[in-house]
Amino acid sequence: IKRITTETIRSMKGKEKISMLTSYDFTIAQMVDAGGIDAILVGDSASNVMAGHETTLPITLDQMIYHAQSVVRGAKRALVVVDLPFGTYQSDPQRALDSAVRIMKESGAHAVKLEGGKEIEKSVKRIINAGIPVMGHLGLTPQSIYQFGTYKVRAKEEAEAQKLIDDAKLLEDLGAFSVVMEKIPAALAKKVTESISIPTIGIGAGAHCDGQVLVVHDMLGMTHEFSPKFLRRYLSLYDEITGAVQQYVQDVKSVDFPNENEQY
Ligand code: KIV
Ligand code: NA
Repeated sequence: IKRITTETIRSMKGKEKISMLTSYDFTIAQMVDAGGIDAILVGDSASNVMAGHETTLPITLDQMIYHAQSVVRGAKRALVVVDLPFGTYQSDPQRALDSAVRIMKESGAHAVKLEGGKEIEKSVKRIINAGIPVMGHLGLTPQSIYQFGTYKVRAKEEAEAQKLIDDAKLLEDLGAFSVVMEKIPAALAKKVTESISIPTIGIGAGAHCDGQVLVVHDMLGMTHEFSPKFLRRYLSLYDEITGAVQQYVQDVKSVDFPNENEQY
């Protein structure tokens, strides 16, 4: 199987929509890869989905590397992109590069993702100068949740929309290979997508983006309290799994399991 590269992703703009899902472990990554996904994001949403935290802020670089190592072992074809966690790239460009280098060296992933535009310009530049591909992330950037105060749609007002347009252009100029846009108006996402030459990957950003990304546990219906408008659930695994567990409990209690064929 031929590996999807950041250059493959770049070249898909205007030709073929890019499909992306998150994964945090070997078993899910294997299935996501087998389903033909173009790119896998080892998102810092692992902080919520894997660890049960309320925000993405607590997850550490070591924890992200552990998730990334597991995903890389499961993904044979997909491009693997890893989030730089909160606090590992905002302070200074050297720290940012050190963090990105650790992810690349210790996990074998293919690219990193950072939240923000102008604020992290020097960090993005330093990482790209070292030969590490960078994916941007604009709009509702969850590492800034305490500044935003809510998870509502971003960039509805002119000033924030213009900053997002400028940041997308800046990321393109710095050499980012694509940019995630999270929870912004579809019309703005369309405008940005048409104004830059690198692919935009949307989550809650409408159909005009060059690609789409979802948290895999959300689209599989494993999470059940999180129901934003943009989320399409393809399965209801929360119900399926709790139902299977209930059945197992019942079978153990009633000594239906194991039966004659299930013992030595
Ligand atoms: O961490 C994550 O899952 C993400 C996607 C939602 C884009 O950053
Ligand atoms: Na993230």
